Amino acid sequence: MFFENFKKFIFNYGKGQYTKLVGFTIMSLIAGFLEFLGVALIYPFIMIIIKPESIDIAKYIHIDNNIVGGLLLGLGILLLFIFKNAFIIFYLYLQSKFVANWKQKILFNYMEYYLYAPYKLTMKSSPNDKLYVIGTLVNLVIDNFILRVMNLFTNIAIIAMVLLLLLIKFPIPAFATILFVGLAVVLQNKFFKSRTKKLSEVMNQRHMSYQTSILQNINNIKEIKIQSSENAFYKEFQTTSDNLKEVQIKHMFYCTIPPYIVEILVVSALILMAFILSMQNLNDNSMLIASFAIVVAALFRIAPALNRIQSAINSINSSVNFVKQVNEEYEKLNYPICKQIVINKEKLDFKNKIEFKNICFSYNDAKQVLKNINFTIEKGDFVGIIGLSGAGKSTLADVLLGLLPADSGKIYVDNKELCDSNYASFRQIIGYVPQQINILDKSIAENVAWGVEKFDEKQVVESLKEAQLYDVISENENGIYSNIIIGSNGLSQGQKQRLAIARALYRDPEILLLDEATSSLDVQTEKEITDMLSALRKSKTIIAIAHRLSTLKACNKLVYMRDGKIVDIGTFEELSSNYEDFKNLVKLSNIN
Ligand SMILES: Nc1ncnc2c1ncn2[C@@H]1O[C@H](COP(=O)(O)OP(=O)(O)OP(=O)(O)O)[C@@H](O)[C@H]1O
Ligand SMILES: [Mg+2]
Repeated sequence: MFFENFKKFIFNYGKGQYTKLVGFTIMSLIAGFLEFLGVALIYPFIMIIIKPESIDIAKYIHIDNNIVGGLLLGLGILLLFIFKNAFIIFYLYLQSKFVANWKQKILFNYMEYYLYAPYKLTMKSSPNDKLYVIGTLVNLVIDNFILRVMNLFTNIAIIAMVLLLLLIKFPIPAFATILFVGLAVVLQNKFFKSRTKKLSEVMNQRHMSYQTSILQNINNIKEIKIQSSENAFYKEFQTTSDNLKEVQIKHMFYCTIPPYIVEILVVSALILMAFILSMQNLNDNSMLIASFAIVVAALFRIAPALNRIQSAINSINSSVNFVKQVNEEYEKLNYPICKQIVINKEKLDFKNKIEFKNICFSYNDAKQVLKNINFTIEKGDFVGIIGLSGAGKSTLADVLLGLLPADSGKIYVDNKELCDSNYASFRQIIGYVPQQINILDKSIAENVAWGVEKFDEKQVVESLKEAQLYDVISENENGIYSNIIIGSNGLSQGQKQRLAIARALYRDPEILLLDEATSSLDVQTEKEITDMLSALRKSKTIIAIAHRLSTLKACNKLVYMRDGKIVDIGTFEELSSNYEDFKNLVKLSNIN
């Protein structure tokens, strides 16, 4: 489970990180070797102090006096420790930087994907899922898994080197002790592994429910109040929070246990080694003391490393599921595709007509939403698309915009087929007013200019005037620079719609595509908007998914849709006289 997910993660997200990972492994080995030296030098140091005659220091360094030699050796050990610690601190600094950069790279890649990938692909996951991946999952994976795996390697290297020293110096007692401690570590890991694995699955689920509950409460505050359901929603939040807290406490508890087990193991190891060493060195006290010293030093180097290994293993076990999830996300989204996206800023030439030829579309296998759509829009047309709710009007608009790729059929602009490579430039000539209007938490001007680094103030004012919204906006103290917030500067639905029209007009598009929300405009504003559209039609091609009689009557061509098919195309009068249900539809829309 661990290796499989780790391998997949490195394969999916590790491109460009391999050399650095190898570098860190080498640095871990160097850190381990420095630990090895630090402990190894303790033996001669103690021997020189308690039994100077045993070591002829002059053989190694040209000093006759063993006391001075011992002092120098001590100083050497001190310097080695200072160097070793400085090296490890530097290594940890590099490691934090590496991990932070890697995390950011993954987060950037996800945001890039969510922004650039084909719309239909990004529809595969909900906004909540996306927020979870970017806000929580990637952080958990990097901090609780990748960083811990790296720590694991470093500490294993340190322990391995120190153990190696013990094995060289005292093969039998070291071997017996390693066997004992190793067995104990494996056993306790077995005990913890199954528990932390289950815990992590539960934690994962509860984390998601918790986040869903927060989002749901924040996003639906109005309906919650209207339904007086604060209690129910608050209670749900409390429950999800309690559930999460419960597993978090358990998880934290498991994390606090290992150091105490390690301490017991270290003391047992010490006693075991001491016992075997005293059996081996019964006659030589000074060697015994020096051997004890090195064993104590070694075990006390090993203990913190073993602690870190234990907590790393716990953390890795409990986050394997997150890694699995982030790997699944990668595979589900067909993630690498985002690299192929190119944004084309050129405007497409549009001189004569747009043709839909045999367009079919379905969101999924269950139902075909658009069936063999064929029609032509001439430049300068004011086309109305009308049909019952669910007829496929908004879907048709999305297909025209290239957000949803047709399953079959083609769209031509002046005989040029629209495809992935020219859709972006086609969108440059379209101003789109969606059915569902989104407002950014920014100034009105930024909402009109949308995504432009430096907006043109004159153009913003002009667009707002055209959309019949400027008078309302200029009443605000800061005019177009005021933020659209709930409260005094809040916008009504009709004003939001006009803001969306201003947004569409800002880029001075050749084609205006409106997906009208019904009944948001009062009669006066509706007339003003219709007048505006009538004025605009002299210079623009307008496609309106229309509900209002005034709009419908102004259209020179109406496309009547039913159940994903075009029933007929004609003028308002033609359709009214030919289709009883069209007449009913107009009547039922309550617009006359
Ligand atoms: N994301 C989606 N996934 C699956 N099916 C969808 C999705 N969006 C819409 N549909 C289905 O496609 C059909 C057409 O929907 P569409 O939004 O195009 O209708 P519409 O004509 O715009 O309706 P309305 O007048 O209510 O806006 C509906 O049956 C709807 O259930
Ligand atoms: Mg719609």
